[in-house]
Amino acid sequence: MARYSTLWAASMLAWVPALCIAQAPNEPALAAYGGYEGLGKITHDFVERVQKNPKIGRFFKEADIERLEAMLTDQFCDVLGGGCKYSGKSMKEAHTNMKVATADFNALAEDLQDALTAANVPTYQQNKLIAKLAPMHRDVVEK
Ligand code: HEM
Repeated sequence: MARYSTLWAASMLAWVPALCIAQAPNEPALAAYGGYEGLGKITHDFVERVQKNPKIGRFFKEADIERLEAMLTDQFCDVLGGGCKYSGKSMKEAHTNMKVATADFNALAEDLQDALTAANVPTYQQNKLIAKLAPMHRDVVEK
């Protein structure tokens, strides 16, 4: 019986590395961003910038900032191939009736670039993220 349970425990343990690999963020894809943790810090800085930005700060007055930061971090990690699965609203759903204009979109993109630059993310890596987000323009901008 003792031998059986040792074998059982060993066979269960054999799954542990596989499960960790399946769930852990893909750190190489996020290396330039300081891993998932670094990406979270960049997102926090980015959200602070948009809140303080006189051009677009008003959009975020009623926002659930904690959720927004968590959703953005997962979304960025997802589009960068970092092994996360974004679970938030679709971009259309999240921004319906906000009346976001192209100028607002560009102001937000500049804040993101500034946050990435402040975190020393190389320009090439910055462009990789911006290029993934740019097509979302059509679902975010309404006027
Ligand atoms: C590519 C550009 C953008 C991306 C990737 C993006 C991403 C997101 C995400 C992931 C959420 C959270 C969705 C959820 O709660 O499930 C969100 C919400 C929101 N976004 Fe954006 N967004 C973009 C552009 C903009 C722009 C240009 C504005 C306004 C200037 C804006 C204002 C907001 C606001 C106010 C919320 C709602 C927060 C709340 O109700 O708690 N977003 N966005």
